Amino acid sequence: MKITVVGAGAVGATCADNIARRQLAQEVVLLDIKEGLSEGKALDMFQTATLCGFDTKITGSTNDYAKTAGSEVVVITSGLPRKPGMTREELIGTNANIVKGVTDNILKHSPDAIIIIVSNPMDTMTYLSLTTSGLNKHKLIGMGGILDSARFKTYLSLALDCPPNDIQGTVIGGHGDTTMIPLTRLATRNGIPVSQFLDAETLEKVAADTMVGGATLTKLIGTSAWYAPGAAVAELVESIVRDQKHIFPCCVALDGEYGQSDICLGVPVVIGKNGWEQIVDYKLTDDEQAAFNKSADAVRNMNDVLKTLDM
Ligand code: 2OP
Repeated sequence: MKITVVGAGAVGATCADNIARRQLAQEVVLLDIKEGLSEGKALDMFQTATLCGFDTKITGSTNDYAKTAGSEVVVITSGLPRKPGMTREELIGTNANIVKGVTDNILKHSPDAIIIIVSNPMDTMTYLSLTTSGLNKHKLIGMGGILDSARFKTYLSLALDCPPNDIQGTVIGGHGDTTMIPLTRLATRNGIPVSQFLDAETLEKVAADTMVGGATLTKLIGTSAWYAPGAAVAELVESIVRDQKHIFPCCVALDGEYGQSDICLGVPVVIGKNGWEQIVDYKLTDDEQAAFNKSADAVRNMNDVLKTLDM
């Protein structure tokens, strides 16, 4: 099993590190266009093998896609990360060209790969990758909801002063500061609705903090976060390569589910060896559905920008 991560920046390198430590492949290839960057980070990472107890081979490649040939899973993180005060959507002009080119190059050498998109604006980059590659829609997964849900659960655990893993919660919709939808109604603490423990005002603040979770970190760090994004990708990759059938909120192509079509948006899906295998089309409340439709409209507006870029 070979897994490729394109983009050796903080997010991509952390994805590769998490995937290697979980031993999800015999080989992880890290590719970047910057001379030496991926080779250096891959070697440094591989030198942790005897310290961290994994045998995954980690190799680097400066823009030589032949070295990615035969990858079963490819993670695309390449492109610019956002700076403090920027929205993910503002990256579209630069990142669209990069993601299209990377998708084309990857599929030349790994035509059967399952592709995971991380590059932002992720919902639109996923849609771009799908519409320009003609890849089977089940093999294209945008990673956003898993990360947003992790932030949602973390903020809930802080508000409840309880172990984060006692919390179940999910975020659907777009992976944007104003388009994501934390499903507070369905969040639980070991099966007990969180509304039994927290008042409406606190729950609203948790949801609001979740929505700008990425921007909060970018303001503090000066660039996009990487630890939680890298771990979220590894969760997704593990469910694929081990055929675990976990349900995760992921950005996938909708053909009528949740009342939307011709769009890639975050919904709960079953993740297994074939990519996303089934959309869990559960009933939303009228308010949740209205929020989902508004999220879809915002993402569709971003998708329309691709037309102005001739993509
Ligand atoms: C985030 O929210 C990088 O979009 C990613 O941190």
